[in-house]
Amino acid sequence: MNNAHRPIGIFDSGIGGLTVAQAIAQLLPKEDMIYFGDTAHLPYGDKSEAAIQAYSVKIADVLLKKGCKVIVIACNSASSAAYELLKEYVRMDAHIINVIDPMVAYVTKHFKDKQIGLIGTKRTVMSGVYTDRIKETQNNVQLKSLATPLLAPMIEEGFFNNQISHEIIGQYLSDSELLDIDALILACTHYPLIKKEINQFYNGKISILDSSEVVAQALKTHLETNSLINEQPESTKRFFVSDYTPSFEASTRLFFGEVVHLEQHRLWN
Ligand code: DGL
Repeated sequence: MNNAHRPIGIFDSGIGGLTVAQAIAQLLPKEDMIYFGDTAHLPYGDKSEAAIQAYSVKIADVLLKKGCKVIVIACNSASSAAYELLKEYVRMDAHIINVIDPMVAYVTKHFKDKQIGLIGTKRTVMSGVYTDRIKETQNNVQLKSLATPLLAPMIEEGFFNNQISHEIIGQYLSDSELLDIDALILACTHYPLIKKEINQFYNGKISILDSSEVVAQALKTHLETNSLINEQPESTKRFFVSDYTPSFEASTRLFFGEVVHLEQHRLWN
């Protein structure tokens, strides 16, 4: 099989990663796409590193069997827990892109000498991976991180743009850890859905950075550099979940901009 014609694999703990999938579909409309949401095991944000690694390897197997040329880890929690392991595991069979490195590259380029806030799951914040990666670049960016574990389940339940979500978001963003920041990284692929509310909290005075577009751009650059761009006229997209429920399917519209048909693919029988 010509490598350019192989699909792009994308995975997340659930349907939050569809925000990244949507940005990829918009930037690279001719690429075939296979999305995998591990709805049987979400949320990843509260899981141990070992558990997320085990799930990620299983999902990588599924995506490799389906011939993916690239695997995008569209989840910060999985990117922080399993990126290095997956690179080792997959080796030459596919290229792995995480959601953290493209954001670190963006922030260190555009926010030198600034204070940046970050919100994400416990797993992502506890891993310290953003701080470590930023330090490696030796750019003087100060990062202040806060775990905001209620936000992903709140969004999955469709609670945003209402009084409850305003309250919860307001409580978190008022934390002293996030005082005097020049920009805020949304280090969870669910959070683009509350970007407007976060922007309102700051009265539009600071930049709110979500990774979907920078990750899509990093993928495009990789495909171009390695002559892997698919030029076919029509593309196909398939969406798998490890545990199907009609409510997940209904929620896909919020994350992907349209309802998509979810197919069940269990990771363990
Ligand atoms: N979408 C996941 C992330 O970016 C968070 C949701 C979860 O906890 O599973 O970290």
